[in-house]
Amino acid sequence: MTTTQTELRLAKRMSRLGTETAFEVLVRARALERQGKNIIHLEIGEPDMDTPANIVEAAVNALHKGFTHYGPSAGLPDLREAIAQDVAKSRGIKVGADEVVVVPGGKPIIFFTILALVEEGDEVIYPNPGFPIYESMINFLGAKAVPVQLREERDFRLDVNEVARLISDRTRLIIINSPQNPTGGVMTKRDVQDLAAAIGDRDIMVMSDEIYSRLLFEGEHYSIAAVDGFKDRTIILDGFSKTYAMTGWRMGYGVMRPDLAVHIARLMTNSNSCTATFTQIAGIEAIRGDQSEPEKMRQEFQRRRDVFVKGINQIKGFSCLSPKGAFYTFPNIKQTGWPSKKLADALLDEAGVAALSGTAFGAFGEGYLRFSVANSVQNIETALDRVDEWAKKNL
Ligand SMILES: Cc1ncc(COP(=O)(O)O)c(C=O)c1O
Repeated sequence: MTTTQTELRLAKRMSRLGTETAFEVLVRARALERQGKNIIHLEIGEPDMDTPANIVEAAVNALHKGFTHYGPSAGLPDLREAIAQDVAKSRGIKVGADEVVVVPGGKPIIFFTILALVEEGDEVIYPNPGFPIYESMINFLGAKAVPVQLREERDFRLDVNEVARLISDRTRLIIINSPQNPTGGVMTKRDVQDLAAAIGDRDIMVMSDEIYSRLLFEGEHYSIAAVDGFKDRTIILDGFSKTYAMTGWRMGYGVMRPDLAVHIARLMTNSNSCTATFTQIAGIEAIRGDQSEPEKMRQEFQRRRDVFVKGINQIKGFSCLSPKGAFYTFPNIKQTGWPSKKLADALLDEAGVAALSGTAFGAFGEGYLRFSVANSVQNIETALDRVDEWAKKNL
C-alpha cells in the first residue's frame, strides 16, 4: 500500500486552470444511472451518431498498412494538403499546406495559440458565455481575460461596438466562435466585417473558432480570414470532431500564416510529437470522401432543434430562441426564479434530465441552461415531458 506522507505542493498556475463542467455532469449522471435512475443526456457536446463507415474503414486499412508510427509534428503532408484545399474552398481564401497544423482535437489550437502569441499581462477578449476552455487557458497562461458578453437581445451575436470598447493597448488576441457554443448564435457576414473594421490595423491577432462551421442551419459561413488584410492575422480553428462525429478520434487543425505554423508545430513536437497517423489517413477520407453523411447529420440536428425549441417554449418559466447553428439550445430560465446551477442540478436529480448550467460557460451564462440536441427525437420528447412535469410541480 502506498502512503502519502508529504503534502502535495502544486505549481501556483494550477489554481488558475478551469475545467469543462460537461464532463463532471456526465460523471454525476452516470453515478445516478448506476443507482438505477433513468437519465436523458442533453449535457453532452458531441454528435450521438457513429463516425461514417467509410472513415472507419480508412482507419482500419491504414492500421493494416502500417500507419502505426510517428509522423511529422505538423501532420502528414497529404492531410495538410487536403485540409488546405478544403479550407480554401469553404472560406474563399488561398491556403497552402504549409499553413495547416494538424493536432489532436480542436482544443490544442486554443492552448498553443495563446502560448505562442500572448505574453503574461496581455489582454485577450473572448465571448462569455462561451466555450470554457478559452477563459481557463487565458488565466492559466497569466494573461488577462476580458469577457465580451453575448446578449440574447442580439440573438447571441457578438456586439462589435462592445468589442471595440474593450480593445486596449494591451489587447493581443480576440477569440471569436461562430456558430457558437453554448448559444448557437451565428455572426453575420456584416458582423464579421464590422469586427475587422473595429480592429483596423492594430497589431491584434484573431483566433476564429470555426469548429461548428459545417453545422449551420441558415445562410453561409463567413470567416474573418476572408476579410482583406486579415488572413495573416487569423488562426482558424477547425477539426473533425463535430462535422464527422469523430470526437473520440482526437483530430483537429489550425490554419495560420506559415511563420506561425512553424512555431505551433514546434509546440506539437514538445507536447504530443504528432497526431496519431492512422487517424490522419482517415481524415483524408473524411475530407475527400462522400459528404452525404455529414449533411444528413446536419439536417437531423436541425429537425431536433425544431422539436426542442417548440417544446421548451411551451414550458412554464422557459423561453428559447431558435439557434442558427451548432447543436445546442440556450433557453432563458429567468422567469423560473431559480439560479441556473440549482435548476440544472434539480432537473438532473428530480427529473432525470441532464443539462448544463449557463454559468458553466462563464458568469454571463447566469439565467440560462444549455441543452444539447445530440440525442434522438424520442429522447428529446421524453426529456421535454419530464421538464414540463417538473415545472408544473415546482414552479
Ligand atoms: C467551441 C468549441 N471549440 C473547440 C472544441 C474542441 O473540440 P475537440 O473535441 O475537437 O477538441 C469544442 C468542443 O466542444 C467547442 O465546443
